[in-house]
Amino acid sequence: MKRVESWKMLFLWGAFTLSGLLVDAAEKSIEEKTRIHRLSTTKRAIYDAFAYINRIPEKAEEEESPQDFAGRIFGRLANQEGRILVKLPAGMDRASYLGLKTFLRYEGKAGVGNCVACHAPANFTDLKRHSMTRDGTPKPTPSLRNLKKRKIDIRKVIMGKIAASRQKRSGKSGGIAEAYAQMNISKKDVPGLVAFLGLLDDVPDKDFRGLILNARLLDTSGDIE
Ligand code: HEC
Repeated sequence: MKRVESWKMLFLWGAFTLSGLLVDAAEKSIEEKTRIHRLSTTKRAIYDAFAYINRIPEKAEEEESPQDFAGRIFGRLANQEGRILVKLPAGMDRASYLGLKTFLRYEGKAGVGNCVACHAPANFTDLKRHSMTRDGTPKPTPSLRNLKKRKIDIRKVIMGKIAASRQKRSGKSGGIAEAYAQMNISKKDVPGLVAFLGLLDDVPDKDFRGLILNARLLDTSGDIE
């Protein structure tokens, strides 16, 4: 082989090896990158850390209704609560935990947000349109992730929903989406819901692991139904 040829070969071999390494790095699993065991979600909010440590399913199965999905999560939470095994990642407290339950609850007497009917995990939207006013045109359901970045006045939005749900239930507002009739919340549920929605803001990748490592058990021995 001539000298030039062997240089060429060496160059080709080098390029080949390098591209192999680059592909490897790109394909490195999320698990390796974050050093979190069996982490499959690419989402990085406090809520996702909560779902991960408590093994809450990320999203509904195909054909599973939002209510059935919420029911499945409730079943899991009840089980964990009973054994005092609910773990809260750093940044999550009792108020936001109870807010999560209000958000998901679709039956019962109080604290029924039924929000999950339209804002379903993993992206907290059903990708459908709904009418929010008596004769309003249906609007697409926005995702509730990263509301902070979008500077949404969450409190104001929820107060509006409480008013619309009351109108719907009084039968005066046929145009309002049916799911609003199933909502049963009042002003006192608002702080919890606001706290819960705050868990849907993404944290930087490098901080996510810390949320999980610094998780604490929630004392569910007394006051949680
Ligand atoms: C019937 C379906 C439905 C239900 C139930 C519902 N939402 Fe919504 N939500 C929507 C739609 C549609 C919009 C967009 C309305 C608009 O643009 O005027 C919205 C907007 C929002 C926004 C503003 C987000 C933004 O980007 O502007 C928040 C926050 C929100 N919903 C929270 C909740 C909470 C909390 C609950 C439960 C108490 C709830 N939603 C129940 C359909 C629903």
